[in-house]
Amino acid sequence: MTELFSENNRSGLTRDLIQALFPMFEEASAGAIAVDRESRITWINSSYAHLLGLGNPETVIGKPIRQVIPQTRMPEVVETGKPLLLDIMEHNKQQLVVTRLPFYDDDGQIMGAVAFVLYDDLQPLTPLVAKYRRLHQDLAAARKALAKKTRGTRYNLADFVGASPAALEVKRRARLAAGRDMPILIRGETGTGKEVLAQAIHAMSGRAHQPFVGVNLAAVPENLLEAEFFGVAPGAYTGADKRTRQGKFQLANGGSLFLDEVGDMPLALQAKLLRALQEGEVEPLGSNSVTAVDVRVIAATSRNLEAMIAEGSFRSDLYYRLNVMEITIPPLRERLPDLGVLCEDILENNGQGPEVRREITDAGVAALGSYDWPGNVRELRNVLERALTMGEDGGQLDANAIFRVLPRGGSRPDPLLVLRPVKSLAKTLANAEAQAIEEALVASRGNRTRAARMLGISRSVFYEKLARMS
Ligand SMILES: Nc1ncnc2c1ncn2[C@@H]1O[C@H](COP(=O)(O)OP(=O)(O)OP(=O)(O)O)[C@@H](O)[C@H]1O
Ligand SMILES: [Mg+2]
Repeated sequence: MTELFSENNRSGLTRDLIQALFPMFEEASAGAIAVDRESRITWINSSYAHLLGLGNPETVIGKPIRQVIPQTRMPEVVETGKPLLLDIMEHNKQQLVVTRLPFYDDDGQIMGAVAFVLYDDLQPLTPLVAKYRRLHQDLAAARKALAKKTRGTRYNLADFVGASPAALEVKRRARLAAGRDMPILIRGETGTGKEVLAQAIHAMSGRAHQPFVGVNLAAVPENLLEAEFFGVAPGAYTGADKRTRQGKFQLANGGSLFLDEVGDMPLALQAKLLRALQEGEVEPLGSNSVTAVDVRVIAATSRNLEAMIAEGSFRSDLYYRLNVMEITIPPLRERLPDLGVLCEDILENNGQGPEVRREITDAGVAALGSYDWPGNVRELRNVLERALTMGEDGGQLDANAIFRVLPRGGSRPDPLLVLRPVKSLAKTLANAEAQAIEEALVASRGNRTRAARMLGISRSVFYEKLARMS
C-alpha cells in the first residue's frame, strides 16, 4: 500500500507520517477497501471481507465495487477526487459509518480511492446522534417561532374542532368575519376556543401575512397597560429606555390586534383605546406626536359586557365600536355531540407518536357527556390527559377510565341515569301503569273490584287497562 498516498507535492515527511498511520487506521477500523480509477476493487482487508460475508476475499478483486457493495459512493470519490469524510452507508440492513479518501500518483493524477468502515454499528455515535437530534429539534422550534413571529398565528380554522350545528355556525361566521375588515367580538366561556378562533380569523383574512399581536388585559398590571398598548417615547420618564418602545398597536400595524379579556380593561384605558380606534392613531407615552396605525381589532371576553355597561364599568361607546360583528361560541355542555370529534382530535395530537395512540370507546364518550364542563374544551383536554396517565398502557379509554378522572360533584347528574338507555315517555308510563295494576291485584288477592278501588279508578277503566296489558 506504499504508493497509496503519494502525491507530487506532498513532502516526504507527510508521506511517512501517513504511511505510519495507515496500518493503525486499518487495524482500528472495522474494515478497509481500495479501488482503482475505474472503481474496481484492488484490495480488501480480511475484516471487511468478513463484515460483507465474503468467503474468499480474492474472488472480489478486479470486480466493480458496485457489484459487491451496491450502496457504495466510491465511484463518486474517484470521479470528483473529493473525499467523503463521514457517511452512513446501509449494507444488508446494517448501518456502517464510513470514510472515503481519493489517492493520487506522483503526477497528481487520481489513481483510486480507499475507504474505512469506522463503525459497524451506531452505538459509539449515540451521544453524537442525540446531540444532532437535539439540535434538529431546536432548529424546528426556532423555525416555528420565527414563522409565528412573521405570520403571527398558530391556529387556523381546522384547529377549531366541532361538527355540531352550533360549531358549524361558529365556523361559518368566522369565515364571514375573515372576509370583511371589521372589528369582531368573540364571546364564550373560559376554554371554549376564543383564542383559537381569533387566530383562525386572522389567518383567513387579507391580513394573514401581517402580524397578529395579542394582549391579555387580565394579565398585564393596570399601571403598565398604557405603555403596553401605545408604547413609550425615549426618555419619557426617569429610567425609561433611550429608544422608543413600541406598543402593541405599532407592532400590530397592518395586521390584527387581539384584545383578550377585553372586559378587564380599566375605564381610563377604555377611553384612550376608543380614541385610538376612532382616529386610527396612537400617542406613545411621554411623546407629543402621534403615529398613524392600521389594525383590525378582534376582541374576546367571557364577561357579560351588557351587565358591565349597566353598572358603569364598561363604556357603551367602546362596546359598539368593538362589537360590529359578534361571534358567540356555545359552551361545550350545549354541544355535547362534538365530544366524539374533540376526543379524537385531542387523543391524536397528545404529543405521543402513532404507535402509542390511544382511543376512547363509545361508552367512554357517553361518560364524558354526563359532566357539565365548566372549563369547556380546555378542561376536556386535561381530563383526557389525566385518563391517559392513570389508565393502563395501551388500553382503550372506557367509561370506567373516564369516571375515575372526572371531577365529582357540581351539577353532574348521576352517570348511571345518563347511561341507562332512554325509553319513550309513553313506554315508561305504560310500564309504570302495568306495575301498579299488578301490585293492586296482588294486594287484593285477585279481587278486581277492590284492586280498581285501591288504584282510584272505575271498574270499567280497570278492565280496559287490564285488556290492553294482556
Ligand atoms: N373547538 C376547539 N377545537 C379544538 N381545540 C379547542 C377548541 N376550543 C378550545 N380548544 C382548546 O382548548 C384550549 C383553550 O382554548 P382557548 O385558549 O382558545 O380558549 P379561550 O376561550 O381563549 O379560553 P380563556 O377564556 O380561558 O382564555 C386550547 O388548548 C385549545 O386548543
Ligand atoms: Mg383565551
